[in-house]
Amino acid sequence: MPTPTESIIALRRGASVQQVLAADANPPPACLLIDSPAKGQSTKDLSLDRYYTKEWHDREVEKVWRKTWQMACRLEEIPNVGDHVVYDIVHDSVIVVRTSPTEIKAHINSCLHRGTRLCTEDGNMRHIKCPVHGMTWGLDGALAGMPCAWDFPHVDRERFNLPQAQVGTWGGFVFINFDPCCEPLESYLEVLPEHFKAFNLENRWKAVHGAKIMPCNWKLAQEAFMEGFHIATTHPQSLGYTGDTNTQYDVFPGRHVSRFIMLEGVPSPSLAEVPQQKIVDDMQRDIGFYRGHDITVGPGESARAKLAAHARERISRSAKQDFSKLSDSESIDLIQYLLFPNLSPWGGQATPLVYRFRPHGDNPEESIMEIMLLFAKAPDGSHPPPCKVTQIGLNDSWHMVPGMGSAADVTDQDTDNLKRIQRGIRASRKPGATLAIYQESRIRHFHETLEAYMAK
Ligand code: FES
Ligand SMILES: [Fe+2]
Repeated sequence: MPTPTESIIALRRGASVQQVLAADANPPPACLLIDSPAKGQSTKDLSLDRYYTKEWHDREVEKVWRKTWQMACRLEEIPNVGDHVVYDIVHDSVIVVRTSPTEIKAHINSCLHRGTRLCTEDGNMRHIKCPVHGMTWGLDGALAGMPCAWDFPHVDRERFNLPQAQVGTWGGFVFINFDPCCEPLESYLEVLPEHFKAFNLENRWKAVHGAKIMPCNWKLAQEAFMEGFHIATTHPQSLGYTGDTNTQYDVFPGRHVSRFIMLEGVPSPSLAEVPQQKIVDDMQRDIGFYRGHDITVGPGESARAKLAAHARERISRSAKQDFSKLSDSESIDLIQYLLFPNLSPWGGQATPLVYRFRPHGDNPEESIMEIMLLFAKAPDGSHPPPCKVTQIGLNDSWHMVPGMGSAADVTDQDTDNLKRIQRGIRASRKPGATLAIYQESRIRHFHETLEAYMAK
């Protein structure tokens, strides 16, 4: 007996992701053979107040941002003792600092004297010194210097240490959690470490990093990148080479991880027959990676196989590693995961993207969207210095971020939508959003998890 979601999926046109993967020349890793549609989700409208009210925002701070694991930086950003990154989330802030070759701490970024923000910038330091009266702490957070100590006889210097957030690492990312009683990162990550064994993010380094102020709530921004339903209307240029409506949406056991697998090198099921060479031509027109290369599809050959073989060879050359056995799917498809609440690492080798979404300060109607590109390290583990973030404003194009390439076109199209969605939501007389059952099942899953945290 099919589940209600399976009955809905059966109504779609075109080959499923699993059917396409089964026909690929190079077979995919086990994690891509898992098809895990959501089960038993609600179909109720999703209340809209979550996207603009200060009340929702304030509760999210307490129940989500102060309770969940969040990616604060990459390990390659803090290789040496004293290297640190400042991670801000709404009004909270931590200094993530390497305290020894094997240890990283996250100190609350507020002076114990009168509350001053201790660090404002990333860099390297030998100690943490407040710029106002000069109280100083060691990298380990222990009090190291107190000017005019004679005036503080009431302070126990042994206990005047910087409070800390929890720290964990996975996949080359450093995570923090403000909750001293939080679940360990290892179990919080659920299926992610198992799936990413195939994709090896710790062997990558951050080559591109942009952060843009977005004209919408952080959840709206994130949701815009969780489904392919909008492609036909928002990005019609990509229909010739993207399997939009036959995208696979997975919701994994646990609450924190979901995924889509979106096929590339096949046309949308909504189009009539598309010649194989045209699939390649359209992709070359839109995607800088393929542009200017000779990719000719011969009689009886498929565009997908040809593009995958081309990508494998180019990836091997640029990473100086043998990727000849890499699956077609990892070579060209869009494989995107979400780790609740706000980190989206991509799998495969084709699109080495990472997204992160946060509220912009205390404003529920603005957010910060970050896009990073993680390139493969050399076989000996060496790599250029990681990229510093390029901050761009509300009205700036993603093209202002060096290295974004043609991905900027699509992301700018999504940003234009988001402004309209945020504006439209405030005008709505209908109290909720009506979600598609399958194509928006990851968004539903995200909100079910969000609501569970908010109810705690
Ligand atoms: S506020 Fe930090 S030393 Fe005074
Ligand atoms: Fe989009």
